[in-house]
Amino acid sequence: MTAARLCVHGDDRVFTLAIGQTILQAAMQQGLALDHACGGVCACSTCHVKITQGGDCFSAPSEDELDQLDEARGVGLDSRLGCQAKLLRAPSGGQVEISIPTWNVNAVREGAGH
Ligand code: FES
Repeated sequence: MTAARLCVHGDDRVFTLAIGQTILQAAMQQGLALDHACGGVCACSTCHVKITQGGDCFSAPSEDELDQLDEARGVGLDSRLGCQAKLLRAPSGGQVEISIPTWNVNAVREGAGH
């Protein structure tokens, strides 16, 4: 298997996350709204997601990512930066699940009208 199903809490659509791809790359390819103010270079924390299933199949966070996550709101043990978390192997069951913190979702929605 070269990809996993990517489910997003509160979103009925099912996305695909290829092995070697970051969550942000998959989101941008498939029309999932995930903010990325710095363009995906680990210099903000707007792409903050929580990986609620399959988190052990992703690349380990770098020091830079952990520093950025320190600045994010509502960080938990399953928090990652969407632009940095890269799928390394297929999860058991073939599915990973993420949630996008609601303040990020709101920020995206507010920005959408401009
Ligand atoms: S988009 Fe800025 S850190 Fe991910």
